[in-house]
Amino acid sequence: VIKFKNYRLFYLDQTLLPQKEVYRECITVRDGFKAIKSLQVRGAPLIGIFSAYCIYVSLKKFSSKSKLLFFNRLNKNIEYLKSCRPTAVNLSWALERIKTVASRNKEKSIEEIKQLILKEAQAIHRQDIEICRKMVDNGIKLIKDNDKILTHCNSGQLATGGEGTALGIICRAAKIYKNIKVYIDETRPLLQGARLTAWELIKKKVNAVLICDNMAGYLMQKGEVDKVIVGADRITRRGDVANKIGTYSLAVLSHYHKIPFYVAAPFSSFDLSIEKGEDIPIEEREGEEVKKVLGKVEIAPKEIRPYNPAFDVTPHNLISGIITEKGTIYPPFEENIKKYFSCRGE
Ligand code: MRU
Repeated sequence: VIKFKNYRLFYLDQTLLPQKEVYRECITVRDGFKAIKSLQVRGAPLIGIFSAYCIYVSLKKFSSKSKLLFFNRLNKNIEYLKSCRPTAVNLSWALERIKTVASRNKEKSIEEIKQLILKEAQAIHRQDIEICRKMVDNGIKLIKDNDKILTHCNSGQLATGGEGTALGIICRAAKIYKNIKVYIDETRPLLQGARLTAWELIKKKVNAVLICDNMAGYLMQKGEVDKVIVGADRITRRGDVANKIGTYSLAVLSHYHKIPFYVAAPFSSFDLSIEKGEDIPIEEREGEEVKKVLGKVEIAPKEIRPYNPAFDVTPHNLISGIITEKGTIYPPFEENIKKYFSCRGE
């Protein structure tokens, strides 16, 4: 979904899926900002990777000899992209990596620093492919044949550099086992489930059924859901998880029906500087997204006031396990997250 060719950055415009598959070029930092803000490029790991490349292309033609000007521009572009979407921590995590590489090499020439920025963006991309693969290897152990799995939003190839997180696990499971059934929440208001997850699952010939967001409880009551797996945009040090709006409702429903509720996310989605979910910044988007379908069809009276939080927070006590590239973390989360991170030397 992101292509870096001949020093140029291209991305699949996800707002046009599933009807059209159109690649666009990102040349300036403003292009990058617009692409992320409008969800042409979306999903926590992918916006991190994309923003890192975007910093490179936005500075590629920087021609002044002044290092001061170069670093001013670099820092300005980084801060600008960081401000684009506040909830997914992967965005600032990737941009911080770029900033660190540049500042550690500030003695080098501007051209050399540009090349190091590109190398770092490519490393972030490459590592994400590997991280997804390992996460899927770990997550697959939790699935068995005949499982009926429900997922929300899109956490597949369209949301990462690799095979995906939660949806990656589901797709691998469907390859290995004969009888996996997937329920896809449509994910209002922007329909990432109906448009994107359904598109990915149809392409991969996975046995999938699309439902409206308000149908999950009914299915659970009928015994039609064996487990829920979702992605994450930010995870606190005690294991509270921000993900697409509607995730919390699913977690509450799963708890009531005693259905395992799993989150799949890379280490780059953990924000250990935050303890409680209440402290995660939640993006609030244009109300028009609620009043219209796909930005086109008006579905509500003009006078009605909309409210459009893009994410919610699922408290750790509703989560059965957090699947990562290093293994699955189980409760007590605060203690176990700490252990996982200290093993990595952090
Ligand atoms: O607003 P979006 O479409 O970027 O939201 C995406 C999600 O909430 C995903 O579940 C999350 O980023 C995990 S993607 C592997």
